[in-house]
Amino acid sequence: MTMNQPQLYINADLPQLSQAAATFWLQQATKAIREHGFFSVALTGGSTPKPLYRLLSEPARYKGLDWSKVQIFIGDERVVPHDHPDSNYRMARETLLGHVPVPKENIHPMQTDGPVEQAAQDYARQLQGLLPLNESGIPVFDLVMLGIGEDGHTASLFPHTTILTEYEKWVAAVYVEKLSSWRISLTYPVLNHARAIMVLASGENKAEVVQQVMNKPDDKVFPVQAIEARGEMHWFVDAAAAKALPAGFQ
Ligand code: 6PG
Repeated sequence: MTMNQPQLYINADLPQLSQAAATFWLQQATKAIREHGFFSVALTGGSTPKPLYRLLSEPARYKGLDWSKVQIFIGDERVVPHDHPDSNYRMARETLLGHVPVPKENIHPMQTDGPVEQAAQDYARQLQGLLPLNESGIPVFDLVMLGIGEDGHTASLFPHTTILTEYEKWVAAVYVEKLSSWRISLTYPVLNHARAIMVLASGENKAEVVQQVMNKPDDKVFPVQAIEARGEMHWFVDAAAAKALPAGFQ
């Protein structure tokens, strides 16, 4: 299976990265709705996407998008209450979901108030029921959004954790020693089979990971490098995150 080369978009700063990413996101949404009647997206957590989500919540920007045909999922979640400051669902609600006319029934948060393994199984069942399945029976997102940590994690696929070898389950619970906390996350099989993946990276602290991904793709030292997208993969970075790339790299 030939893997698609990642597309790299270097922007001056986070505001411009967010503008470019918002345009891409809306293009993906419009295309998916036109092609098969709805748009399924797994939102990323963290802080990088906040300006992007705020842009997407502007009516003048999303005009013409039929939010009733948008299905919102979460790529990974911290196992905290949904109103906890660390909750990715809370962050998405505050910056986007609470400001756009997406029907409540189209928003699918990961449940974090019960046994984590059960929550992972339940979420996988939701994916199976709501998303098209490919020839291997794997749920296919129209778009998966990812961020990266400076340790090269993406979603909750952290270095030295059990989830890195999880290729059966589509959603898994994982205990992250370095954070002393549980996470629930999509796994590589589901991430890899998305029609499109967009990765957001801003700041100098992400430069080493960006450089490794783009410049040494065969030297896989970071979990994000194990993403082998069957569909398109688009990296939206700012100049700070791109600073370790060779001059003129594109
Ligand atoms: C999370 C995210 C995680 C995030 C990276 C980058 O739950 O934290 O899903 O993978 O994207 O840690 O986070 P920042 O955008 O805050 O740097």
